[in-house]
Amino acid sequence: MSFASCLLAGALAMSASGAGVELIGSAEFCGRCHRAIHAAWKSSAHARSMESRLFQDALESAESELGAAVRKTCLSCHSPIAVQTGDLTLQKKVSWEGVTCDYCHSVREVVLTGPNPRAKLEFGLVKSGTLKGASPTAHSAVFSQVHTSSAICAPCHEYRNAQGFAVLSTYSEWKASSYAKAGKQCQSCHMSKVAGDVVDPKIKRSSDNTVNLHLMPGSHSIDQLNSTFKAQLSTAREGGKLKVTVDVANAAAGHYVPTGSPLRKIVLELRADSYDGKHFRQERVYQRTVADQNGAPLEREHLAFVKAAKTTSDTRLAPDEKRTETFYFDIPQGVQTQVKATFWYHYSPTATAETEKRVTFLTISRLAR
Ligand code: HEC
Ligand code: HEC
Ligand code: HEC
Ligand code: HEC
Ligand code: HEC
Repeated sequence: MSFASCLLAGALAMSASGAGVELIGSAEFCGRCHRAIHAAWKSSAHARSMESRLFQDALESAESELGAAVRKTCLSCHSPIAVQTGDLTLQKKVSWEGVTCDYCHSVREVVLTGPNPRAKLEFGLVKSGTLKGASPTAHSAVFSQVHTSSAICAPCHEYRNAQGFAVLSTYSEWKASSYAKAGKQCQSCHMSKVAGDVVDPKIKRSSDNTVNLHLMPGSHSIDQLNSTFKAQLSTAREGGKLKVTVDVANAAAGHYVPTGSPLRKIVLELRADSYDGKHFRQERVYQRTVADQNGAPLEREHLAFVKAAKTTSDTRLAPDEKRTETFYFDIPQGVQTQVKATFWYHYSPTATAETEKRVTFLTISRLAR
């Protein structure tokens, strides 16, 4: 939108129900009426995308190592309002809200052709959404097809950098999956319908008493991880060794596990502790590793984003994929052994211990002999 048309839309803003409507409303403002949605969004990764210490640290490193121009790239997803309004110095409070209400509900269309998906936005009094026949009070509304589909997520969950390398490919992973063919959009797993009022009943009784969960649970959610990553462990004897097999499956994610940033990984650790005092440990890592044009590995988020040019390995589980991991241990027959598989999710965007996030979500153990 041009500056002139911004002003025009601004001049059209009016007051309704005593609540002043601004051109771009803060989440708090929207939350005055959309309380339940605001509360869920507030604890989402989207609400933290700017305030996150991890992001702020990565942004600082990016600017000092790659130059100030990179800021705009990073903010285009972490604070799309800041980029849209030219507030790159983050003077406005709404710029700190990250992936906020008025960004998503000002989207009218997503263009999926070209190097990267792009959203077309119209800021103002008309909010786009999926309620049929909504009759809002403080603003007007328009039914939007794009909000019912994965396309609304694509501009930020799919990204090719200047080398043409797909750093984020969640949308295209989904697009190629059986879920896309079955018509299951991102929303069906990340924005399920839950009980709640679309609008505070004190303000307006709405026809529907369910809302789409705006929490967007992802890998921070143990439930989400547990429902996805299925595993079974069995043991046998083979050639004088203890053989352990772990069958793993990506049973519920509509994309690779893990997806998104190359720095996310899932680790399967297998320990075998025999009762005669031997201790063994092996692991398998599910991750996509990337390198720059010269083949140098990239292990920090901002460098992966800007410099990645090739995938060096990819051991992630594709949607619906089942895989059998086999381990052998030098433990003679008859010696009782405690076998334990532990899965954890690991993410460290700056490759330092301070930013490390580790969530253990599944353990299976059994006694073998
Ligand atoms: C004064 C109360 C109030 C405020 C403030 C408010 N809304 Fe609404 N909004 C409503 C009401 C009422 C509805 C209609 C609910 C219905 O008909 O069931 C609605 C509906 C919506 C819808 C659904 C539209 C559709 O067609 O699917 C969206 C999206 C929405 N609001 C976004 C926002 C955003 C974003 C903000 C902040 C910029 C905001 N609202 C601020 C009262 C409000
Ligand atoms: C990442 C984008 C995104 C953000 C951020 C977001 N929404 Fe939504 N919102 C959606 C989508 C997509 C739907 C429709 C989901 C569907 O129908 O499957 C929706 C639905 C709605 C609806 C219609 C009722 C419902 O629950 O379906 C309202 C009202 C609404 N959002 C308000 C808000 C408010 C208020 C905020 C901020 C506190 C917000 N949204 C933040 C994407 C977003
Ligand atoms: C304007 C950009 C933008 C849009 C649009 C967007 N996202 Fe996001 N999303 C982000 C960013 C940035 C983060 C990371 C925030 C952080 O952790 O700092 C994120 C994080 C997430 C996460 C959490 C990942 C985790 O770490 O657990 C999920 C799940 C998610 N988004 C799903 C969606 C879905 C589903 C949609 C579409 C309905 C969507 N997003 C639309 C930018 C966006
Ligand atoms: C069939 C269900 C399903 C669909 C469809 C789906 N997801 Fe997910 N998603 C999951 C589950 C389950 C997880 C948690 C496991 C994990 O971390 O991979 C997850 C995790 C994520 C994460 C966290 C990153 C990670 O792997 O740790 C992001 C971001 C995300 N999804 C975005 C999306 C987007 C964007 C779409 C649509 C293009 C989408 N998802 C479609 C089920 C789904
Ligand atoms: C195309 C959109 C996009 C761009 C551009 C982008 N990011 Fe992100 N960023 C995301 C998404 C989506 C996630 C979270 C989920 C995932 O891994 O897919 C994320 C997550 C992060 C995280 C983890 C935050 C946390 O709290 O877990 C950091 C750090 C980060 N990004 C830094 C950066 C930096 C620095 C830049 C600029 C060099 C950048 N990002 C550019 C979309 C983007």
